[in-house]
Amino acid sequence: MSEEMQQSKTDKDDWLTPKWIYESIDQHDGIYLDPCAGEDTYIGEANPRPRSGWDGLEYEWEGVCFVNPPFSEKVAWAEKCVEEAQRSRVERVYLLSPDCASHKSFWHAWIEPHAQFTCFFEGRVKYVDPATGEEAGSPSFGSALHVFGDSPPTQVLRWMDDVGDLVTRGLFF
Ligand SMILES: C[S@@+](CC[C@H](N)C(=O)[O-])C[C@H]1O[C@@H](n2cnc3c(N)ncnc32)[C@H](O)[C@@H]1O
Repeated sequence: MSEEMQQSKTDKDDWLTPKWIYESIDQHDGIYLDPCAGEDTYIGEANPRPRSGWDGLEYEWEGVCFVNPPFSEKVAWAEKCVEEAQRSRVERVYLLSPDCASHKSFWHAWIEPHAQFTCFFEGRVKYVDPATGEEAGSPSFGSALHVFGDSPPTQVLRWMDDVGDLVTRGLFF
């Protein structure tokens, strides 16, 4: 694993998702909850903030969820995504993450056995700096979008296939 993937909490943990990703999902699948919202982000209908006492790793989720967790805590968030996707109040969970298939405790423990679909984005995703609202840059690794829980609408799958390489769970085995 590269040093950047093991980065400390001060680094890129707060980089925001570019609109083109969450708006495409929202358009076709109506995101309800962002369990790790930024201080000024409005992804989905419910975006509770840590400063209000909400802890997305502790509390229960609901509906269609979109998750772009702090990179440095991706293992805990991936585990939580898998757990929440099995609950009846959760329809499905989209998780944006580094595409680090070599990371055993992340990819091999939580992504590979549980993701119904994974999209490996073509090229590097450019994230947004929460301080400026401008492009923050790209990490030196690629990004992937995973779906846990019920299958998403066909339009979402078509979009995932358009913007990257779409892999279904059956192909992992
Ligand atoms: C990579 S940013 C993503 C922000 C936004 N969801 C987006 O996609 O643009 C991760 C966010 O998770 C929040 N966060 C970190 N730990 C959290 C926790 N335990 N519960 C809820 N939010 C948390 C941070 O405040 C940070 O803004």
